[in-house]
Amino acid sequence: MPRVLITGKVPSSVVRRLEAHCEVDMYLGDGPIPKAELLARVAGAHGLLSLITEQIDAEVMAAGTDLRVIANVAVGYNNVDVAAARTRGITVTNTPDVLTEATADFTWALLLAVTRRLGEGERLVRSGGWTRWALDFMLGMELRGKQLGIVGYGRIGKAVAVRGRAFGMRIAYTSRTPQLLADAEAMSVDQVLATSDVVSLHVPLTPETTHLIGKTALTKMKRSAYLVNTTRGPVVDEAALVWALEQHLIAGAALDVYEREPEVHPGLLPFENVVLAPHLGSATVETRTAMADLAARNALAVLAGEPALTPVP
Ligand code: NAP
Ligand code: GLV
Repeated sequence: MPRVLITGKVPSSVVRRLEAHCEVDMYLGDGPIPKAELLARVAGAHGLLSLITEQIDAEVMAAGTDLRVIANVAVGYNNVDVAAARTRGITVTNTPDVLTEATADFTWALLLAVTRRLGEGERLVRSGGWTRWALDFMLGMELRGKQLGIVGYGRIGKAVAVRGRAFGMRIAYTSRTPQLLADAEAMSVDQVLATSDVVSLHVPLTPETTHLIGKTALTKMKRSAYLVNTTRGPVVDEAALVWALEQHLIAGAALDVYEREPEVHPGLLPFENVVLAPHLGSATVETRTAMADLAARNALAVLAGEPALTPVP
């Protein structure tokens, strides 16, 4: 039987699916598996189910000389050295589609929270600081008729746009591949930044998208606009974001992801107009189960000599 290492806890139904065909070794410790333990346990494994908290680099692959598949339990796979895997003939897979709707929903939860000042209001109520209703009290920004700018018009970007239309927003988007769409306007990143009332980031983390949103980009945004990031932390230069908030260059920001998770830039914490979530984009019972299950099916397919269901491009 092939051996599969799972780097963190996954639902028991997924373990059972793998156990029907493989010997399963699942790391049960709290937090991410320590690197030394990962290196020791990957030795002799034919398949690896990895979580985004692990860097699956050339060192891990060198230790896992029998590895045939790395099935990342995420759609983003910036934590896997895909080039190193290709060199070794290891298939890398991810979990697209199954998390699109949950992540788009959560992007909207953040978008609404920041534009309608939900975090700020909740903190006020809990602290006992709310004293009265007033006509001009804690006013937010209406979304109807405003422009939602989507940077990275892929699966999640498009699902976020669908929700935007339901809220009466105009959709602008960036794409490197020309698309003829009647219900959304293609723009350069600079145009999206300059004209949108809400900018939502959905590009994958790559060398080109690292710090895509830095001082220069933030300076281009409208002072009344909000930034939402549910993709990967390093797409935004957090120090530059703190600077832009201090200078009142944007109206607010909502973040699910951070440059050095689980650390958050301390400069972000005092801002009432910043909403901070702990990387919850895909975090529903249904979606996380579907992600782990898809990763398991990918691993089983490759170990059976069949094509992976969702290999990374
Ligand atoms: P996707 O369908 O591949 O969409 C990403 C889009 O970004 C692509 O359509 C692509 O469009 C564009 N893009 C790709 N590389 C680019 C580059 N170098 N520069 C500019 N644009 C680029 O992926 P998805 O399923 O929507 O997922 C997007 C990301 O969301 C994932 O990579 C992951 O990091 C993040 N995510 C986060 C959570 C969370 O929990 N917060 C959950 C799920 C996913 P063009 O080629 O047309 O430019
Ligand atoms: C989560 O962050 C994912 O990329 O699936």
